[in-house]
Parts: sequence; C-alpha cells; structure tokens
Amino acid sequence: MENNERGSWGSNIGFLLAAIGSAVGLGNIWGFPYKMGKSGGFVFLLVYLALAVFVGFAIMCSELALGRKTGSGPILAYKNYTKRFASVGWLAVAAPFLIMTFYSVLGGYCIYYVITNFIGIFKGVPDSSSFGAILTNPWISIGVLLLFMVICFLINRGGISGGIEKFNKVGMPALFVMLVIIIIRALTLPNAVEGLKFMFIPGYAIKAGFISESPSVLSVLATAGGQMFFSLSLAMGAMITYGSYLSKEENLPQNSLVIVVFDTLVALMAGLAVIPAAVANGINNGIPVGEIKLGGPNLLFATLQDVFHNMGAIGGLFGTIFYILVLIAAVSSAISLIEVIVTMIIDGNTLKGKSSDRSMITVIVCAIITAIACLVAADGLGSNGIAPAQLFGVEVAGWNDCWLDFFDCWSEGLAMPIGAMIMALIIGWEKGSESIYEEIRIGYEGDIHRFYRICIKYIVPIVMCFISAGSIADYFGSQAVGYAIAIGLLVVYWAMCRASGWVDEK
Ligand code: PHE
Repeated sequence: MENNERGSWGSNIGFLLAAIGSAVGLGNIWGFPYKMGKSGGFVFLLVYLALAVFVGFAIMCSELALGRKTGSGPILAYKNYTKRFASVGWLAVAAPFLIMTFYSVLGGYCIYYVITNFIGIFKGVPDSSSFGAILTNPWISIGVLLLFMVICFLINRGGISGGIEKFNKVGMPALFVMLVIIIIRALTLPNAVEGLKFMFIPGYAIKAGFISESPSVLSVLATAGGQMFFSLSLAMGAMITYGSYLSKEENLPQNSLVIVVFDTLVALMAGLAVIPAAVANGINNGIPVGEIKLGGPNLLFATLQDVFHNMGAIGGLFGTIFYILVLIAAVSSAISLIEVIVTMIIDGNTLKGKSSDRSMITVIVCAIITAIACLVAADGLGSNGIAPAQLFGVEVAGWNDCWLDFFDCWSEGLAMPIGAMIMALIIGWEKGSESIYEEIRIGYEGDIHRFYRICIKYIVPIVMCFISAGSIADYFGSQAVGYAIAIGLLVVYWAMCRASGWVDEK
C-alpha cells in the first residue's frame, strides 16, 4: 500500500545516524562510564560486550525486522504478528512515554547549562552550586523543559526524512567532533589518570576508595544488562518504529552491528571525557575520592560544572561545547521516543481510513508529555517536598524518593526488561525464530539463523529474567526478593511457553 503520510528514510546512512542518535544519549554519558567503574572496570566491559552481542544484537535485529515486516509501530506490529501476546505492544509505547517525562527535564537542564556556560565566558563560569539553584527553582526548570520540548516538536513535526534524519545527519558528526575536543582537554588535566584507573582497572574503585563495597554478581549482571538495553534504545518501541520506515533492500544484521558498535564506542569515549575530568578536578581540589559524584544527574550538572568553573574563562567555552554535545545526544534520543507515540497514532488513523495531521499529533503528544514532565521539573530530584514518598508517606528504598526515579523504575526498571522477555518468548517460542528470520534474510546474504535462534530462544529469556530481577532488587533494596523474582519469572516464562504451544523448528 502506498502511504505518503508515513514517509521513509532518505538513505541508509540517514537511518543509521538516526538510530545511532537514538542510542547515544544521556545513558552513554552519565550511565555507562560510572557503572563500568563501580561494577568492575574492564570485567564489566567484557560482560557488557557479551550481553551486547548475544542479547542486544539479537533484539536489535528482531525489532528492526518486526518493524519492517509489519510496516508499523509497536502496537500494530505486535497485533499483526502475534495473537496471544499482542498487548505487549502497549508496554513498548508506555515505556517511551514514561521515559520522556524525565528525559525532557534533563534535556532542559542541558539547555540551561549551555546558556550559563556561554554567558560564563564573559561573566565568570558558575560552579556546582548552580545545580542546587536550578533544582529548587521550578520556574527555571519548567522554562527550559518547555524549550527542550519545543525543539523536539519542531524536529518531529518535520517527519522521518524531513525532520529526524536531517537533524541527526548534522547532529551526530558534530557530537563526535565535540566529544574528541572534550576528551583531549580532559585527559591533559593533572591526575586524569586516576579517573582512567577507576574506569578500567577491576577492583580499583574499592581499593582507591571510590566506593565502599563491591557489588554482587546479580547486581553487576543487572547493571550491565539494564544499561545495555537502555543505551541501545531496546524494548521501547523505538527500533521497531525506526525499522518500520526502512526499505526492504537494507541489511538488518549489518545495520544492527553498526548501531551496537557505535553506541558502545561513544559510551567509552564519553567515559574518557567525563570520568578523568571529574576525578582529576576532585583530587586537585582536595575532595576525598569517595565523595566525588561520578554518576547520574549530579555528575553531569554538578561535578562537571565544577571542572569548567575551575578552568577559568576558557572553562566557559569548554562547558558550552560540552553541554551542546550532551544536548544533541538528549534531543536525538528524545525525538525517537516521541516518534514511537506519533507513529502509533498515525498508523492507527491509517488503519481506520482517516488521514493524519502530523503537526497536530506531534503538538498533542508533546503537550501531554510536557504536562507530566512539569511535575518532574517542579520536584527537582526530590528537593521541593513533592516527591511520591513525601506525598504518599511511603518510603521504599530508592524508587519513590523523587518523581524521576519513580518514572524511571516503571519504565527502565520494569516495562523494558519484561517487554523484552515477552518479545523473546513470542519470537522464539510462539511464532518460531524463522518468522522473524525470514525478514532478516531479505537484504542480507549471510546466514546467522542458528546464532539468532539460539540467542532469541535461550539466551535472551534467561538473561532477561536476571536483568528484571536485578533491577527489581536494586529498586526495592532486597537481593532475596530479586532472586525470588528471577526464579518466579523463569517459571512464568516456562508456563507461557507451554501455553503458546512450544512452536519449534529444526
Ligand atoms: N538510548 C538512550 C540513552 O542512552 C535512551 C533511549 C532509550 C532512547 C530508549 C530511546 C529509547 O540515553
């Protein structure tokens, strides 16, 4: 069916840059480097790479293939593909929506820091106290959030090739160049090598006092797996959506490989840029290493702002470059999340025989996200007394101490791993791996069917149980609960496989 409303990618490289743009985001910059250092350095990297090859790559191929095969976003893709578990498509739409409620707030902070660092070149570069100031000032947070959403709206309104592809074609190369500039500056700071040791040498984080106790095996696996999923934009409908705009000529395994490799490369490069700078600056200013904040929003907006502050006026210039880079990463991810929902509505309309006004749909989607995001912005990471724990008077480990963590727990912590597990079940056991592999084969001359089948049938589900359990254990603070849930999930998985009739092929 000829469908002019949907549009398609202008070129394969345009698609690749957009997919890499989706993958490369805040997760690469503040998540990966810190988690790597904390969870075993080089060993963590190996675990991460193994998961990326056996789980991430297989799911990436599956999502792109499912999107292309059905020519639609997650809801319709699953509906067309499976009878029994079609509702999993809703998980793949709810998760991006929830992620956007806080991703947009963080994107807004990036805009704020671009502006203040630029002004800082002339008027003095702010230090980390600026982060506390913005957290406790809901109006600034909401103002920059609005700006961020307007930028995303303008890009998504332009459609696939006219908006998303165009932005990424300029944005991704620019991000890369800026990252190299920041790495050079960071690695030439005195004591930068301590940061490198933290990141790469197994056990150094404990020995040097960065952290007090070593993480458990379950938690390392869950950390690496959760990070890998989030970073590759998997189980969020994003790759299904982007895949639905791909032409049949494109080579899916090759594209998937390029996305995985670049995403990991940028995560490592981001590590070289931020960790050595943060550690060096901390040591040079007499801060005990255990107190240097190396992960999460604090790394990005407080610790690194001190680095730029201590460089003098030139720090304003590096700060401006750095925060533009982070902003590009955030925008290119956010537009892929928004596109999941916009595509879903356009496809739904087409099915009903109605035409769609992309601009109108994009405005409405962005407005609803913004409305909820205002709550996250006003909460200021729990600074302003309106966090869920404070409002409802319940305190459970870390998941409800601020609205950001609350939405993150439901999306990244639960919807994502559970969605991926059900996806593997559908492909591997309900429909059979051939049902997706026949799509992968189109445009690809090699043969990875055996590899694909083993990954999707056995490795992915088992690993997903542990990732789900680990993230539940992390959010709710109990290892025992985590393990109990892992075993429970395996049993549920087995029961669902039986229910689906154990489709298997030779
Ligand atoms: N991959 C992005 C990051 O690392 C986040 C993201 C997740 C984007 C899921 C789209 C879909 O920050």
